[in-house]
Amino acid sequence: EMGADERVFQERIERGVKIEPKDWMPEAYRKTLVRQISQHAHSEIVGQLPEGNWVTRAPTLQRKAILLAKIQDEAGHGLYLYSAAETLGVSRDQLLSELHSGKAKYSSIFNYPSLSWADMGAIGWLVDGSAIINQIPLCRCSYGPYARAMIRVCKEESFHARQGYDIMLALCNGTPQQKQMAQDALNRWWWPALMMFGPPDGESVNSAQSAQWRIKLFSNDELRQKMVDQSVPQAEYLGLTVPDAKLKWNAETQHYDFGEIDWSEFNNILQGNGPCNRDRLSVRAKAYEEGAWFRDALAAYADKQDRASGQ
Ligand code: 3HC
Repeated sequence: EMGADERVFQERIERGVKIEPKDWMPEAYRKTLVRQISQHAHSEIVGQLPEGNWVTRAPTLQRKAILLAKIQDEAGHGLYLYSAAETLGVSRDQLLSELHSGKAKYSSIFNYPSLSWADMGAIGWLVDGSAIINQIPLCRCSYGPYARAMIRVCKEESFHARQGYDIMLALCNGTPQQKQMAQDALNRWWWPALMMFGPPDGESVNSAQSAQWRIKLFSNDELRQKMVDQSVPQAEYLGLTVPDAKLKWNAETQHYDFGEIDWSEFNNILQGNGPCNRDRLSVRAKAYEEGAWFRDALAAYADKQDRASGQ
């Protein structure tokens, strides 16, 4: 049974009013936003690692510059999202310690290794492509700071996806070995990219509540289907084969029917047993420790400035 405050809050949500940090909100609404926004931010920060592996190995100076720009964007997305989370009364240090301790999640997709240059193409095309499909609706979610952060992020994300597809196109128009590299990357990234959208709707514990609060405007399966429908023609244009023998256009539904996702692989990763989980967290924790002197110096400098200006 909803209290008066919650009824008023729910009516505002249903009228499409943006909820701002100072507005009254149910504690559970605040908590689910901290959970989702902080994990989104962690995903951006950890997501830099697979791509960082290829900056010094990029095939040309131009590809290196583009990859650096993308990685720098992801860092910015992370900082944007940590700031959005801070409007809900949590501290960045607290969020980062939850990431480093393994308590907080980040997107499953970043627990796979990036084994060849073609992975930079498949990641841009499929990972950022999936992220866009997930993030466009979030531009219209009910929490103001999150929705506004997403508008900027989505603009940069489309550059990320296009440069990835451009890498795949170059490889597919290259030597047979290069085309095989692209096919190998598609084979390894296709199913993990579909898992990014989360468990099937029937097993999604947060979806119903997040939908009622207009945080989640489309279900996990709806967005996953959108990604399949969008990506299959793109793979065909590249002359690549999607690694799913059951993939088939369904003229009746006007969608692709596709095969079963291996949710045991997904659940394994969520429990921290993916190919790269431990490596990703240790790299992040080490970077944080090694950056302590810089944060302390910034704080000391800021204190000195405050004292100098008599604050
Ligand atoms: N990886 C890790 N955990 C996942 C996951 C995934 N791909 N999908 C779902 N989960 C977790 C959920 O966090 C939840 O666990 P929790 O309650 O402990 O947080 C549990 O699995 C059940 O899933 P639900 O569907 O019930 O959870 P949500 O309603 O939160 O939906 C979500 C999951 C669709 C990922 C939603 O949280 C969301 O839209 N998050 C914002 C988008 C996001 O995080 N994107 C990351 C993409 S990568 C990226 O952005 C970088 C790109 O720029 C390259």
